[in-house]
Amino acid sequence: DWNMPDYVDEAIAKVRAQVGSEEVILGLSGGVDSSVVAALLHRAIGDQLTCVFVDNGLLRLNEAEQVMQTFARNLGVKVIHVDATAQFMGHLAGVSDPEQKRKIIGREFVEVFQAEAKKLPNAKWLAQGTIYPDVIESAGSKTKKAHTIKSHHNVGGLPETLKLKLLEPLRELFKDEVRELGLALGLPHEMVYRHPFPGPGLGVRILGEVKKEFADLLRRADAIFIDELRAADWYGKTSQAFAVFLPVKSVGVMGDGRTYEYVVALRAVQTQDFMTAHWAELPHALLGKVSNRIINEVRGINRVVYDISGKPPATIEWE
Ligand code: XMP
Repeated sequence: DWNMPDYVDEAIAKVRAQVGSEEVILGLSGGVDSSVVAALLHRAIGDQLTCVFVDNGLLRLNEAEQVMQTFARNLGVKVIHVDATAQFMGHLAGVSDPEQKRKIIGREFVEVFQAEAKKLPNAKWLAQGTIYPDVIESAGSKTKKAHTIKSHHNVGGLPETLKLKLLEPLRELFKDEVRELGLALGLPHEMVYRHPFPGPGLGVRILGEVKKEFADLLRRADAIFIDELRAADWYGKTSQAFAVFLPVKSVGVMGDGRTYEYVVALRAVQTQDFMTAHWAELPHALLGKVSNRIINEVRGINRVVYDISGKPPATIEWE
């Protein structure tokens, strides 16, 4: 039988034995896996851990502040916060092909991360939030590759170029065990049970060319959607929910005037494995409230639609 307090002690002892007095770097994204690694390593080796948090300008509303609050201020973890928004936006300017966008975002992440890692010459280890299902997936990747529909953003290859040893303390755990470990380490429930967020972030939720103006509108619409889902107790009943920015304008009315503004689509799905998914049958009253709030509060959006496509044939993300 699996006993969490014992498991925490064992995991800490194992990290200490492996790492000794050497220093470790971790790319902290704010997602569940890297957050749990950060909390575990901080417990195990304290200041021997340095986290690098890269803000690519494609994160959710207040995400950078929340990560800095939880890890740097509350837990006392050393976190280097890199605001690389300008660099990412610069490289994405003029690019509208989804695969091209994914590649640029992945490549720039590696660039930024490497530049930071070089400033920490004493580091001997690169920690990653690899979990057991990732291990299985990459073991089967030779056969899977032919079926890959979208290129996935990851940091494969980083340990080699940085000449670092790989530290993967979650390698034997399933997702639900990672969450339990996170709670046992004192991470907030909200963080441990957050919906997954893709590596390329809002970059694949702003259709076509990515612009900072679009990202700012989308962040606000998305935050309203998630707020209302939580308030209506629907967040935990959906596997993933988010807003998508459509770069098309439609006509609306506001007071005595005519508006001509952008459209946002809401996506909420229920799934076991993210390979197939059903659109969530959210209550109409909830959808209505979200739509009203977005249109009233986010100037620049005058129309909200709900995505009722299943996977397959649609994917969960729009790009
Ligand atoms: P799709 O859109 O292919 O997404 O149905 C399935 C799941 O994968 C997530 N996703 C990604 N996650 N890097 C990630 O870490 C990526 O590049 C990426 N692309 C899609 C998506 O959010 C959904 O949970």
